[in-house]
Amino acid sequence: MTESAKFVLGDKNAELQLRHGTIGPDVVDIAALYKNTGLFTYDPGFTSTASCESKITYIDGDEGVLLHRGYSIDQLAERGDFLETCYLLLYGELPTASEKEDFVYRVTRHTMVHEQMSRFYTGFRRDAHPMAVMVGSVGALSAFYHDSTDITDPHQRMVASIRMIAKTPTLAAMAYKYHVGQPFVYPRNDLTYAENFLHMCFAVPCEPYHINPTLAKAMDRIFILHADHEQNASTSTVRLAGSSGANPFACIAAGIACLWGPAHGGANEAALNMLGEIGTKDRIPEFIARAKDKNDPFRLMGFGHRVYKNYDPRAKIMQQTCHEVLDELGIKDDPLLEVAMELEHIALHDDYFIEKKLYPNVDFYSGITLKALGFPTEMFTVLFAVARTVGWIAQWNEMIEDPQQRIGRPRQLYTGAPRRDYLAIDQRA
Ligand code: SDX
Repeated sequence: MTESAKFVLGDKNAELQLRHGTIGPDVVDIAALYKNTGLFTYDPGFTSTASCESKITYIDGDEGVLLHRGYSIDQLAERGDFLETCYLLLYGELPTASEKEDFVYRVTRHTMVHEQMSRFYTGFRRDAHPMAVMVGSVGALSAFYHDSTDITDPHQRMVASIRMIAKTPTLAAMAYKYHVGQPFVYPRNDLTYAENFLHMCFAVPCEPYHINPTLAKAMDRIFILHADHEQNASTSTVRLAGSSGANPFACIAAGIACLWGPAHGGANEAALNMLGEIGTKDRIPEFIARAKDKNDPFRLMGFGHRVYKNYDPRAKIMQQTCHEVLDELGIKDDPLLEVAMELEHIALHDDYFIEKKLYPNVDFYSGITLKALGFPTEMFTVLFAVARTVGWIAQWNEMIEDPQQRIGRPRQLYTGAPRRDYLAIDQRA
């Protein structure tokens, strides 16, 4: 017996099917609403709207829970590694030892990019924001890998998926090297994913680069924390771009463009800049007051979340990782960390933040950690994009394989001018 909700408005009515998930809120299927009533629903920002059915990631915002294919983020971050998480997101199960070995082999051997990409980079200004370079270079992959752009071919989709996961770290490292004026460093197949990324970013031809295992582990964990997050703005962008049949490289480039915004992935860069602007603990009250001031557009970057109305579970792990990295590097009393911890303490005891359920999110501590690892602020969102590529790709594959999949085409509430006739220019007021 299919449960349903009855919609009645005057003489208009519709029987709307209720659908149940494994966990989390049920949904009312409104597909029949317009056909039966001539009415649209209205939900800018999609605060009450499920755009799709998915099996990949589940978030409980009230409980501060994040599951990838049913496994909690804290267990994956503590006991797994990033490529294992990539396999889980793509294939739905944790890999066996042989499956993992094969997957790592495949990803590792796709880390190089076409040699002409090096010349592509020389077209950018050196002081271009690395995210601008990433949008351009990831989109440009469509111009190099035509043999994996047929989205109707499962084999080509998987090849494109592996290429994206493998090549975004290389493109990101090239964006950093180009930005700082150092030569590109080729990927190495004898290194792990995180080790390889640190090596491509920080090795120089003049001397051997020593990989610090604690820092490599922290980098790998940061990738895990950012891998996927349900239907966030950039993932929804990738899904919508993909729904038109655009090739996967173009869809991921669209996701990177959306992630760049300071309300989304750009918040890690904005959060660190904010901590720098605050500077010292005694200036925190001034910024807290600004965050509460309705007339001031200022917001505490790294705070608040559309879904989490409790502590972002990733932020807890990120804070712990931050301390591990600072300890390993012997950085004592980091002024930014001092300000961050005091700001968090004050905000979590302030009625405004308590009432609006504003907690630190994944971006609050990531900036301090990434700065300590040696990355400039403008690289923070690039690192987020490197990690999130697997989430975007997994969600894109799920959408393509969804039998209900159609091109995404929302409607609107039109409040513009009613029909009117053209006026010759000498008749206009
Ligand atoms: C990410 O969606 C995802 O899953 C994203 C992400 C992922 O992994 O993909 O988790 C990554 O994007 C994390 C969020 C990073 N962004 C920031 O840290 C930027 C600062 N945060 C805000 O801009 C805001 O909290 C959002 C954008 C994150 C969420 O915005 P919502 O859900 O639209 O909430 P809102 O803007 O309607 O705010 C609700 C109220 C408002 O006050 P009222 O109008 O009700 O009086 O809370 C206030 C806001 O003014 N508020 C804040 C605030 N965030 C919300 N006030 C001060 N500082 C803040 N940070």
